[in-house]
Amino acid sequence: MSPVSKRAQAIRPFVVMDIVARAKELEAEGRDIVHLEIGDPDFPTPDVITRAAEEAMTGGSTHYTQSLGLPTLREAIHDHYRNLYGVDVVPDDVVVTQGTSPAMLLLFGALLDPGDEVIMPDPCYPAYPNYVSFLGGVPRLMRVRPETGFRYDLDELEAAIGPRTRAIMITSPSNPTGAVLGPEDLQALADLAERTGVHIASDEIYHGLTFSGHEHTILEFTDRAFVLNGFSKAYAMTGWRLGYLIAPREYVRPAEKIQQNFFLAANAFVQQAGVVALTSAQGDVARMRGLYDERRRYLVPALREVGLRIDCEPDGAFYAFADARCWGMDSLGLSRRLLEEAGVACAPGVDFGDGGEGFLRFSYATSLERLHEGVRRLAEWGAKGVDRSSETPADES
Ligand SMILES: Cc1ncc(COP(=O)(O)O)c(C=O)c1O
Repeated sequence: MSPVSKRAQAIRPFVVMDIVARAKELEAEGRDIVHLEIGDPDFPTPDVITRAAEEAMTGGSTHYTQSLGLPTLREAIHDHYRNLYGVDVVPDDVVVTQGTSPAMLLLFGALLDPGDEVIMPDPCYPAYPNYVSFLGGVPRLMRVRPETGFRYDLDELEAAIGPRTRAIMITSPSNPTGAVLGPEDLQALADLAERTGVHIASDEIYHGLTFSGHEHTILEFTDRAFVLNGFSKAYAMTGWRLGYLIAPREYVRPAEKIQQNFFLAANAFVQQAGVVALTSAQGDVARMRGLYDERRRYLVPALREVGLRIDCEPDGAFYAFADARCWGMDSLGLSRRLLEEAGVACAPGVDFGDGGEGFLRFSYATSLERLHEGVRRLAEWGAKGVDRSSETPADES
């Protein structure tokens, strides 16, 4: 019998991390690699936030906080949602976490019994199905396609809702597709949730990084919703580890108990910096968004020029999800070859589910100059004609 738990064995590896590791090896050998694989902003955290953390740290904010998080931060989250979306989030319904990732454990841990189902799009952020399975739940993946803006087919969605369905997962702007749901999409999902008694679990981590139109939170449309959010992306704070869960009242105490036991609390001085991020760094967010937009406006047509298909114009986050089937190989083999042969690192679409097979995800959280170089290499590699004989076999792990 294997000494490793079945639960741990069932977690699918995040292949893009293998790409990152291999890229680092190649760099150690002296190769120049263009990094388009990782969703980590290339910008430094805005100064105003860093200074706030320094002051908080030297001012003695180095102890445990309440498990729910500092009241000042939960108030600031209330004000943020009030100012941006006109909704009143009760500060006591917010649980501050060490990044958005632990908030997923709180959400699914508070919501799911073994065998309960969560519907999620395929492709989607790969942690969702892993969290759900790890907690004994069942991820129900529903294929979404570029032709329909990577939206759920609402009839299919309604038909998939059964007695064990507890939530429908949405991510807007989306990783990996960059697609954004409009108010009418959110309204339709909210109506469905109210009609069927399921919850919407809305990952809003890429809010602040939508390029056209006004952003909307699911909470404008229904209270039958959990919101996951965090500071990693819009505030360029991936390494700080700060996020939060907004939960319907009856789930707050259960989520708080999970937090108390498993994490105690988020870092005290990072929470203080989070207050300043929300209150004083919106100008920085706008500046970074402008630069991402400039890159997007270069990258998307340039990838099409190289021969890749992008049928759904990305309108948020910092990813272009391109159909690379013209190069006639599986996405994992293709991303490995692009790394080895062209020196371009990108994420294989299959990392985000079977629905992502045939696609590559290019992150534009890197400078325009590097994007130009990456595209130049892709064009050169594509123009040589793709020889499939040296295709790397799929990883069995
Ligand atoms: C959609 C989505 N949700 C959550 C996360 C995790 O974010 P955090 O750094 O806040 O844990 C990511 C990170 O890439 C993401 O893309």
